[in-house]
Amino acid sequence: MQALKDIIRDIHDFPKKGIIFKDITTLLQDAKSYQRTIDLLSHRYVGQHIDKVVGVEARGFIIGSALAYKLGAGIVMVRKPGKLPSETFSKTYDLEYGTDTLEIHTDAIKPGEKILIADDLLATGGTMCAVVDMVQNLGGEIVECCFMAELEFLNGRAKLPEGKVFSLLSF
Ligand code: PRP
Repeated sequence: MQALKDIIRDIHDFPKKGIIFKDITTLLQDAKSYQRTIDLLSHRYVGQHIDKVVGVEARGFIIGSALAYKLGAGIVMVRKPGKLPSETFSKTYDLEYGTDTLEIHTDAIKPGEKILIADDLLATGGTMCAVVDMVQNLGGEIVECCFMAELEFLNGRAKLPEGKVFSLLSF
């Protein structure tokens, strides 16, 4: 696990001064590290009869779609506004400064379906909290919210359903 953590690089002052950005591109572009990440995450859910994996735009798609393929599940996209062509359910949530909105197709999840939500990173938890709300509104049964990495010191998991959060790597 330490080897996977080590390959994620820190970018100082991105996207703004004072922030140390965890850049996962270095892990994703290394074949063995990406494969190991997906293998470790998917292993946790094998046999849990996941119907659909919900991936969060954009980096969540890279984790979510690989997991869906491994688990034999469908992949559902949660997208930034104006990208999905059919009827959507949208959720606006608070950021440090201002708000953001995410959308999902209303027919993407059927009531009672077993859903795994996937994203690359858990930071403040605002994004995943909104996605949890969207999935629950459509009647999905959340198995877990899974992340490649978590910034523990931000305590984002406090915003999410207790006992339903898993991250492979912690910083
Ligand atoms: C990043 C990351 C998560 C979210 C985590 O996405 O991929 O989705 O932020 O932050 P939070 O826990 O504080 O909500 P970003 O909005 O940068 O979009 P991107 O994946 O398109 O780069």
